[in-house]
Amino acid sequence: MATAQTATRTSDEPRRTLPESRPVTGAPARPAASPRPAGTAAARRRDLRVYRAGHPVLFTLLAAARRKPVLRIGRTVLVHDADAVRHALTRLPLDRVAAGTTGGAARSAMAPGDAPATGGVLFDQQGAAHRAARRALADDLSTAGVARLRPLWQATLTRGLAPLAEGRPVDLVALAREAAGVTACALLGVDADPVRLAEAAADAAAAAVREHLPGLPRPRARSRTGASDAARRLSDLLDGGAHPHDAAARAMLAVASVTTVVAALPRAAAWCADAGWWHLAADDTTRPALARELLRVTAPSPLLPRVAAGPGTLGGRPVRAGDRLLLVARHAVRAHTDDPDCHHPAEPALSRLVFGAGPHACPGARLATAQLEDFLNALAPHRPVVVRARADRRAALPGWRSLVVRPGVRPDDQPGLRPGGPRSAAGTAPGALTAPEPA
Ligand code: HEM
Repeated sequence: MATAQTATRTSDEPRRTLPESRPVTGAPARPAASPRPAGTAAARRRDLRVYRAGHPVLFTLLAAARRKPVLRIGRTVLVHDADAVRHALTRLPLDRVAAGTTGGAARSAMAPGDAPATGGVLFDQQGAAHRAARRALADDLSTAGVARLRPLWQATLTRGLAPLAEGRPVDLVALAREAAGVTACALLGVDADPVRLAEAAADAAAAAVREHLPGLPRPRARSRTGASDAARRLSDLLDGGAHPHDAAARAMLAVASVTTVVAALPRAAAWCADAGWWHLAADDTTRPALARELLRVTAPSPLLPRVAAGPGTLGGRPVRAGDRLLLVARHAVRAHTDDPDCHHPAEPALSRLVFGAGPHACPGARLATAQLEDFLNALAPHRPVVVRARADRRAALPGWRSLVVRPGVRPDDQPGLRPGGPRSAAGTAPGALTAPEPA
């Protein structure tokens, strides 16, 4: 858990001036491009709906600009290239509290109304204060910490997926919300209702994003009141006698852990269902790489808005203090071009970029990856298919509002259906196991 620390600087600690780093050579050689299987194409088509529904203008703008690794439009620099994104996060001085950045949004959203100035919410911190706040989290999010939390979310998943064994549907978004809420409650040591906590965190994040991120409709006065209401509701739920300066940091941890996981888990499950990859999810030897590849291709936090605090270069182009940087993680990890392939996964240095890089890299990456692996493992025996998917138009991160699945055909239920092979003995493509989506 983060402790109260005062943010004393508005830019990152100065670093040695280094030439732009080129540590990653890209993904390992994959087999020459072959036609995309029908199931994979269906999975990609469905997943694109979460971008188009929630952030259509931004999505179209970023997609149109992605041919240039780094593109300046006025004072805004769009960054699509992996090396340049990594360089921006690790080498450029960044203004962590500027409006329109994750740090600026987090700081003002988590200190609602007339709350006192906060001691920092990680995203907006730097230097010694930031390092101390990270250390305070390290044990809970270490391998041992994740092992302690794991049984909690596993029990939630087992109970939540039980209806599938009886042939009944399950909404995977509701289940992901509960699992994320249970985990956040345990991490923060609060005895709140996990679903209410997860909903309050999602509302606070949605309100903050609408107010602060570029290209999104600005909230009306009424929804601005809603923003502070949401933040207050979250603080009330987290009120466990912590030091008052700790409150904003606790709220931020709840938001960071819940919104990302609620976006990521159902999107990954939809990919698996549509592409017919439950056999890969069931197999202990392929599941870890599958989870990493699904995190790469869904890039749950696809856009990192930052502001330069000093001069530098990105992709050979000069950057000035005050320039707005839109770091497009989705494009950097080639989510838009390279389908998940657990037999030839992208280099870890590339796929890890979905969790950021450098001193602010996501401390919850281990926990999130373990949660996704467990989610896929728990779903796999049911071979679920998607029966209804509704994109979330107002969530902070692209995701589903609901994703209802029902049990699919298991290989042992249907003789002749080779589990997960490219084509079954009966001639059924994996994608054909996917129920058609209602219009
Ligand atoms: C799939 C799930 C997740 C994704 C994709 C994700 C992604 C990210 C990204 C991109 C950043 C910014 C990194 C940077 O600026 O370099 C970040 C920061 C952060 N994440 Fe996550 N995250 C996930 C899950 C979690 C979880 C489960 C937790 C907590 C349990 C968490 C806690 C945080 C915190 C506290 C920060 C701020 C770190 C700092 O500024 O020092 N995240 N995350």
